[in-house]
Amino acid sequence: MHTDPPLDPADWEEFRALGKRIVDDIADHLAGLRERPVWQPVPEDVRASFRTGLPAGGMPMAEVYEEFRTTVLPFPRGNIHPRFWGWANGSGVPVAAYGDLLASVINCTLGSGGNAAMMVEQQVIEWLQQALHWPAAGSGLLTSGASMGQVTALAAARVAKAPSTTAFRDEGAVASGVQFTVYGSEETHHSVDKAVELLGIGRRFFRKIPVDRDFRIDVGALRATLRADREAGLHPLCLIGNAGTVNTGAVDPLRTLLEIAREEDLWYHVDGAFGAFAQLLPSHHALLDGMTEADSLVCDLHKWLYMPFDVSCVLTRAEGVLEAAFSSSADYISSTAGGPAAYPLAFSDRGIEQSRRFRALKVWFALKTHGIGTFAEAVAANVAQVAHLAARVEAADDLELVARSDLNVACFRYVWPGAAPDAADRVNRGILNRLQTEGLAMPSHTVLDGKFVIRVADNNHRTDVTDFDFLIAQVRAFGAELRAAEED
Ligand SMILES: Cc1ncc(COP(=O)(O)O)c(C=O)c1O
Repeated sequence: MHTDPPLDPADWEEFRALGKRIVDDIADHLAGLRERPVWQPVPEDVRASFRTGLPAGGMPMAEVYEEFRTTVLPFPRGNIHPRFWGWANGSGVPVAAYGDLLASVINCTLGSGGNAAMMVEQQVIEWLQQALHWPAAGSGLLTSGASMGQVTALAAARVAKAPSTTAFRDEGAVASGVQFTVYGSEETHHSVDKAVELLGIGRRFFRKIPVDRDFRIDVGALRATLRADREAGLHPLCLIGNAGTVNTGAVDPLRTLLEIAREEDLWYHVDGAFGAFAQLLPSHHALLDGMTEADSLVCDLHKWLYMPFDVSCVLTRAEGVLEAAFSSSADYISSTAGGPAAYPLAFSDRGIEQSRRFRALKVWFALKTHGIGTFAEAVAANVAQVAHLAARVEAADDLELVARSDLNVACFRYVWPGAAPDAADRVNRGILNRLQTEGLAMPSHTVLDGKFVIRVADNNHRTDVTDFDFLIAQVRAFGAELRAAEED
């Protein structure tokens, strides 16, 4: 006779009934997204409910769910709504949520081991290689996000390019006497600043190269900086190409950068956090030419592959480079001759984390359910929607298109003749604030050439072009009101 485990449901029928209700509610919620505001503020009484103390005794799980339904569900970030285009968030494929649920049910950790979960992650990495035309001989690792991918890739670069790998890993950067430098455009995502800092390279040695009018790296300035650094006795390590900068979606001349990296014996890393998925479209192969010959690439599946957070991937061109930087052993995790601890593959040897969640399962579910062609159609639709938005902005005499990419980003603002820069910024801030706080639409913002701009990054499979017609109409209406107030 076993005793009942205290943390399992006392009544499995009650557990089952709640699960059925949750799934019913999920379907209603997702089917009715359009009818709800994109975002709404969290009311004070709801905020207060998150400041209660540690629960001492338990309460029925149906009541906990009820609390979630009334205090969490109505007040999210908004990125599953069809009119959310802020920052670089994705919209979330519903079936993937089942993958996440089931991953928690089987509760595997994916450091190492001979189990099916490990095989699913390996399969997902191989599918990504195929989707992105990445060499099959390469390797990879799923990570939480591209920030984690950048640091992983740069750590691999550092070991691969160190004068002596073992000495470098054993003695550390200081003893090796090498001062590395890293190169990328000034539009490179700030996660690279964090990575160089964490890796002991130092922020100052991340050389931020100026960009041209289209926000692409200035290759002449890059060459000059490399030359000066070599003359100064520094050790150029890595060149970063952007396949879609976060601000404007600019794509650096990736093949030219590849050639420079090869000439200079640099590790070539491409940040394709969202832009790498344009590779699903033959129309974009020329734009991304050179990307698949890089030494490493990061791509965020939770951005332009629409997966629920969090799942990203770092791919490497050569097998074994991640292990060269991260492998580590101990008696208590060593591989055995047979059984569950016999493993040819250890993801914990490819990155920082030992305990790793089974994030591959949601991707596996979604790719098997929809097929890569459906994802490619969604990506193509986003490209077309942003082109439509850009064309409408260009056609309007009270709107200015400040930047647009061939991917899914456009930046624009409301303008009028003789507007003072401060007034124009104030009005555009006001427009954005009304769009967001009234729950109408959720672009975000950035500053380009000193101008505050409204920024749209369309990683949303639920958007259609009419949503952008609505956005334009709202921006123009709010702009006219706020401009009038400025002139009063
Ligand atoms: C171009 C680019 N690189 C890197 C990142 C960092 O990705 P994550 O937020 O997944 O860590 C982002 C995030 O927006 C990005 O847009």
